[in-house]
Amino acid sequence: LSFGARDKARRYQETEKKYNLVLEDEIEFIKSLPLAGTRKKTKKKKKKEQKKVEDLETSSSSEEEEEEEEQEEPKESEFKKKKMTIQEVRRSLPVYPFRHSLLAAIEEHQVLIVEGETGSGKTTQIPQYLMEHGYCQDGQKIGCTQPRRVAAMSVAARVAEEMGKKLGNEVGYSIRFEDCTSERTKVKYMTDGMLLREFLVDPSLAGYSVMMIDEAHERTLHTDILFGLLKDIIRFRPELKLLVSSATLDSAKFSDFFDEAPIFRIPGRRYPVHIYYTRSPEANYIDAAAVTVLQIHITQHLGDVLVFLTGQEEIEACQEILTERIKGLGSKIRELLILPIYANLPSDMQAKIFEPTPPGARKVILATNIAETSLTIDGISYVIDPGYAKQNYFNARSGMESLVVNPISRASANQRAGRAGRVGPGKCFRLYTQWAFENEMEENTIPEIQRVNLGNVVLQLKSLGIHDLINFDYLDPPPAETLILALEQLYALKALNHKGELTSTGRKMAEIPVDPMMARMILAADQHKVVEEILTVAAMLSVNGAIFYRPKDKAIHADAARKNFFHPDGDHLTLMNVYNEWAGAEYSPQWCYEVFIQHRSMKRARDIRDQLVGLMERVEVQLSTNPGDSVAIRKAITTGYFYHVARFSKGGMYKTAKKSQTVMMHPQSCLTEDLPRWVVYHELVLTTKEYMRNVCVIDGKWLLEVAPHYYKDNEVHDTTNKKMPKVKGKAKEELRVE
Ligand code: CDP
Ligand code: MG
Repeated sequence: LSFGARDKARRYQETEKKYNLVLEDEIEFIKSLPLAGTRKKTKKKKKKEQKKVEDLETSSSSEEEEEEEEQEEPKESEFKKKKMTIQEVRRSLPVYPFRHSLLAAIEEHQVLIVEGETGSGKTTQIPQYLMEHGYCQDGQKIGCTQPRRVAAMSVAARVAEEMGKKLGNEVGYSIRFEDCTSERTKVKYMTDGMLLREFLVDPSLAGYSVMMIDEAHERTLHTDILFGLLKDIIRFRPELKLLVSSATLDSAKFSDFFDEAPIFRIPGRRYPVHIYYTRSPEANYIDAAAVTVLQIHITQHLGDVLVFLTGQEEIEACQEILTERIKGLGSKIRELLILPIYANLPSDMQAKIFEPTPPGARKVILATNIAETSLTIDGISYVIDPGYAKQNYFNARSGMESLVVNPISRASANQRAGRAGRVGPGKCFRLYTQWAFENEMEENTIPEIQRVNLGNVVLQLKSLGIHDLINFDYLDPPPAETLILALEQLYALKALNHKGELTSTGRKMAEIPVDPMMARMILAADQHKVVEEILTVAAMLSVNGAIFYRPKDKAIHADAARKNFFHPDGDHLTLMNVYNEWAGAEYSPQWCYEVFIQHRSMKRARDIRDQLVGLMERVEVQLSTNPGDSVAIRKAITTGYFYHVARFSKGGMYKTAKKSQTVMMHPQSCLTEDLPRWVVYHELVLTTKEYMRNVCVIDGKWLLEVAPHYYKDNEVHDTTNKKMPKVKGKAKEELRVE
C-alpha cells in the first residue's frame, strides 16, 4: 500500500471536482509526456530527453524483427487479418501449430501446465481441440474456469461462433445466477466460483473428462481452493485430465504444486513495447488518461488504444470527458470510437469491443482489469496504464473488509503493457513515475486467499466434508488469523457448532449462492415471515451495478425522484420500495426511465430474485410475505449482519459496535439527513474514509435478541433508538465529500 490507498482516494475525489480542468493543466500534461511521431524519432529523442524508455522482454524472432520495421503502421496487417475467415483466424493463432503435440502431451500426462502469452489461443482453442479429439464421448464435458464472469460469457460466445453453434447448446457458460448450458453442452465455460459450487453436487466431477483451470496466474480465492480440491480428486479419477493454464507467470509454482507436472510452453508472439513514464505523479489520473488518449489520437499512427481504469464509475467519468473534448475538437480529427468494458455492462455492448475498427478510425477501449489477461482484444497498439485496480481487502484484526482502489503490482503493469504488442510494436504510457514503478509497486499481486474474508469458502469446504482447514493443501496458505476469524463468524452465524461441525442451518446456508451473512439473513426471514421481502432486498443488494441513474444534466430531477423512494428505516427498505413499485408497474422499462432507475440493474435484480425464490424449496423455506412489517424485515437483516453494526458516535461519525472503528454514513444513503443511533450496514467502501454503504436503522436491543452469543448487555446499553439531532455545519459538509 505504499502508494497509499487513502492518498489515491483523495485523488479520486479531486478528480471528481476537476472535470472542467483548465486548458493550462492540459497543456502542461501534454508537455510532460514524451510523445513522438514515429518510433525512430522516439529513439533519437530518447537520449536527448533522458527519458527512460524500456523494452519489454521480447520473444520475437529475427524475422519478426524485420517484419516489425515494416509495421511502422500496424494498420496494414490488421486489415489483412480482418479479411480472414473465422477458421483462418483460428489457424493463425500461436497455439495452432502445437495442436498435435499439445494433445499428445495431454494424452500422456494427467496434469499439464500450459503457459502462453495472452492471445495465444489457450482459452478459446484448447477446449475445442479436446472436443474435436474425442474427449466428449458418453456425454462427458470439457470444463474451463475463468476468474471473471465477463470473460466466461464472452469466450463462450466466441467459441460458439467459431463452431457455428448457438450459444447455450454445444458451448455454454455458467455464472452465478445465470446458467446458459443445456443437456447437449460439451464445452462449458464457467466462473471458478461456479465450479466450486458444482463440487457440492458432484464431488468427483464425474460429468467432466477434462477440467481446465484457466487464468491460473490471477490467483483468485476460488481458483486457489480449486487447486487443492482437484489435486485430491485426480488421485482417484485417473482418467480425468487437468489443465492449468496461465499467462507467462507462476508456471513453475503450479508445476511444483502438482507433483512436478510438465509445463507446455506455447511460444509467444510479441512485439516490443516502449514504455513511457510521467515525470511527476499524476494527481488526476482519469483526466490524465483522457488527455493522453486525445494526444495519441492526434499525434500517433492508427492503432487502437486500451485504457485501464478501476471500475464502472471511473470508466463512465473518462468516457464523459472524452466525449466532451472530442465534441470541442470538431470535425478536424479522425473518428474516435469510445467503447467501455466492465462486468456490469450488458453483453451486447460488451461484444462491441471485439468488432473490427472501421477503416480510418480509431477505437479506444476503457476497461477494468478484465483486459489485463482475461480478454484478448485485437488491434491494440497503445496502452494507457494509470497503475490502479480495485481489490477487496480484509483486515482480520478489525474484522473489516472493504473494496479499495490499490496500486497494481509490477507483474500486472508488465501484463498491461504487453497488451500493446500483439499486432505490432506498441507503446505503453504509464501515468506514474518510473521511480514509483521501481520503488513503490509490489513485485507481484498478493493472492486473494491472503487478503480476503474466507467465510464463504470455509463454509463450502466444511460442507464438502473438509474439516481440517489448517492442513488443507494450499498453494499459498491463508493467514491463520483470517481462517480463525472465518470459523468464529460462521459459529456466530450458527452455521457451525462449538466443535466446528456444520449445523443444519450451515448446510442450508451453503446451498444458497450468496455470502454467509446474506444466507443467514434469508433463513432468518423464514422465522419472521418476511421471506418475499428479504429475497427482494437480497436481490437488490446483489445487483452490484447502480440502481439509481443520475445524469449530470438532470441531477436535480434524478435526486428528487430518488427521494420519493426513501424509507425512513434505511436503504434496504428503500431498495425494496423501488423493486415493489417497479413490479407494480409490471416491470416496465418506461417506468424506470421516468423515475431515473436503471432498468438493466432492475432486470438483473429480478433474475436474481427469481433464482433465489427457486432455491427456497431446497432449503425448506416457505415463501411468506408481510411488506408492512418493517421491524420483522430489519430483524431478519440484523440476524444476518449483526457483525456489521455501528453506533452513532459524534460529529456525524459512527463506531463499529465491537471494535470501535470509525465509519461514516455513505453520502448516497437515504439516512444522511437524520442520523439514527444504531445501524446495520451492508458493506464498507474505503475512499478517504470508511463509508458504510446501504444502511438500515435498527434498535440496539435487537442485538441481544438475534445474537445473544455475540453481544453482551453492556455493549448495547444505549438502547434508546431516538433519532440523533440533525447534523449541521461541518459534519454535514463531510458527509458530502465523496
Ligand atoms: O486465452 P488466450 O489469452 O491465450 O487467447 P484467447 O482468449 O483464446 O484468444 C485467442 C483469439 O481469439 C484472440 O486473438 C481474439 O482474436 C479471439 N477472441 C475474440 O475474437 N473474441 C473473444 N471474446 C475472445 C477471443
Ligand atoms: Mg485466456
